[in-house]
Amino acid sequence: MHMKELIDMATNAREEAYAPYSRFAVGAAVLTSNGKIYTGCNIENSSYGLTNCAERTAIFKAVSEGDLSLETMAVVADTPGPTAPCGACRQVMAEFGIKTVIMCNTRGDKKVITLAELLPFAFGDQDLSGDGK
Ligand code: THU
Repeated sequence: MHMKELIDMATNAREEAYAPYSRFAVGAAVLTSNGKIYTGCNIENSSYGLTNCAERTAIFKAVSEGDLSLETMAVVADTPGPTAPCGACRQVMAEFGIKTVIMCNTRGDKKVITLAELLPFAFGDQDLSGDGK
C-alpha cells in the first residue's frame, strides 16, 4: 500500500480547505483498487449544514470519475490525536467498500484502523432487501 504517498497527498489537499467558519482545515486522500488516488478537502458554506467533509469530497471526486472501487482512505487535520472521520463519512466509506482508514494529524501521529472497527453493524444495500412494508 502507498501509505506515505496517501498521507502526503491528504496533507497537501488540506491546504485547499475552504473553512472560513470553523477555521478547521481537513485533508483526505482515497486510494482506488487500480492504484489511483483522489484527494479532497472540507468545503464549508455560510449555511453551515451544507458543509462537505474532506473525506466525502475525495470519495465523490472518485465516484464522479467512474472509480467506484475504493480501498483505503487517509485523513489529516490538526487534532490532538489521529483525526477520526465523522459518522456521515464512515457511512459513505462503507457504501464504496473502503476497508482501511489511516487516521493522521499534522504532528505525525498515525493510526491505521479498519472501517469495520470504525463502523460496526453498518447499514448497507443488504438491508434494503425486504419488501419495504
Ligand atoms: N470535517 C471534515 O472535513 N472531516 C471530518 O472527518 C470531521 C470534520 C470538517 C467539517 C467542518 O468543515 C470542520 O471539519 C469542522 O467540523
